[in-house]
Amino acid sequence: MTAPRQPVTTVCRAPRPIAFDFGAERRHIESMAILKIARMGHPVLRGRAQPVEDPTAPEIRRLIEDMLETMDDADGVGLAAPQVHVPLRLVVFRLPPERLSPGEHGDERIADAAEAAGSAEDVPMALINPVLEPLGPEQELGWEGCLSVPGLRGVVPRFTRLRYRALDVSGRPFERTAEGFHARVVQHECDHLEGILYPMRMTDLSLLGFEPEMSRYPLTNRTSEQAGS
Ligand code: NI
Repeated sequence: MTAPRQPVTTVCRAPRPIAFDFGAERRHIESMAILKIARMGHPVLRGRAQPVEDPTAPEIRRLIEDMLETMDDADGVGLAAPQVHVPLRLVVFRLPPERLSPGEHGDERIADAAEAAGSAEDVPMALINPVLEPLGPEQELGWEGCLSVPGLRGVVPRFTRLRYRALDVSGRPFERTAEGFHARVVQHECDHLEGILYPMRMTDLSLLGFEPEMSRYPLTNRTSEQAGS
């Protein structure tokens, strides 16, 4: 998912250490990979993704690292494995602190993730085999973009609050409640695991458009106010 009209979505990452040992340097270079992102129309985006059988497998950890690299390179805030041509139930995303709800700042796991990332401004998350459960029928409208639908923005209804369960990279199950932007990102990314792209969730396709035009000609009706952006 991309975050339209947000002040800063690009995460500044600490410079990587320079290695003078050629062996270490080669390993370092090999540890990075920007993956190709599938675009709407590719069959990998239409199918149902398969469960990850061993969350602790080295290739899963490597995939998560590569997905985070790919997401950052593309200025995204979320990415699902099918978007990089891997049909597994795995998503990654980042939560900018300014987009968290007040109650979420105290979430232990979010705080732990921020500490592990070495920055309070950078909270990367990986969900393996996630399961979502809406908390109540309330939905809200909001703008979304998607790295697999480049250049477009649309207003999408999403559940306001939800609970999700998933496995972490150690294979441990955890659960968390989310609301607002956090809940929206999780719903958008997990939809990719079911072969659903955000335009398929839209209820008013007149609110789908190219980003420069949508910025140049802002919507002025009630729906744009509800979209809150
Ligand atoms: Ni997407």
